[in-house]
Amino acid sequence: MKVALRINGTLREAEVEPRKTLLDTLRENFHLTGAHAGCEHGVCGACTVLVDGAPMRSCLMFAVQADGYEITTIEGLAPAPGELSVLQDAFCETHGLQCGFCTPGMILSSHALLEREGSPSRQEIVEAISGNICRCTGYGQIIEAVEFAAERLRKANAPRGSALPHVGAPGTEPSAQDDAAIEHGILEAATAHDGGPK
Ligand code: FES
Ligand code: FES
Repeated sequence: MKVALRINGTLREAEVEPRKTLLDTLRENFHLTGAHAGCEHGVCGACTVLVDGAPMRSCLMFAVQADGYEITTIEGLAPAPGELSVLQDAFCETHGLQCGFCTPGMILSSHALLEREGSPSRQEIVEAISGNICRCTGYGQIIEAVEFAAERLRKANAPRGSALPHVGAPGTEPSAQDDAAIEHGILEAATAHDGGPK
């Protein structure tokens, strides 16, 4: 079947079998390999992309179901080649990644949160990334990255000279108690998650 997807602002077309997932179509037909194939059954979130701005697991969606929708992959977040978005840069600054396998999905889920909420609470960040599993970081620095990006974006968007509340900067490490609470919250949220598209 022929599908027409608007991917990162560009209309792309492909001939695919009806059973081909959006994940495989992005990776194999369009060579957008930032969406990672992890579990391939809706659990890990490594394949997360935005469909009309909402995080979706691309391993659980057929390409034909995405026909006509706006798809955003991690490759589409940077403002220009060789540059990083504010959120991507914050992940680097706060060491919000180690192996990087979960990172595209984490960033896209966090991006969707920041699009709808400029001052997310720590709990809102935990919930936003609760469908994304990270095996490396313990989540604390990922949450710090999202808080840091939110602060930077607020400053960038604030009228010149206005005062902004300080919400933490890179290097402001969460306490051991914070880390334990965050991990507990993530695990609870992940356990409660139904594994389907968010
Ligand atoms: S690859 Fe794990 S949720 Fe899609
Ligand atoms: S950085 Fe390795 S899985 Fe998250």
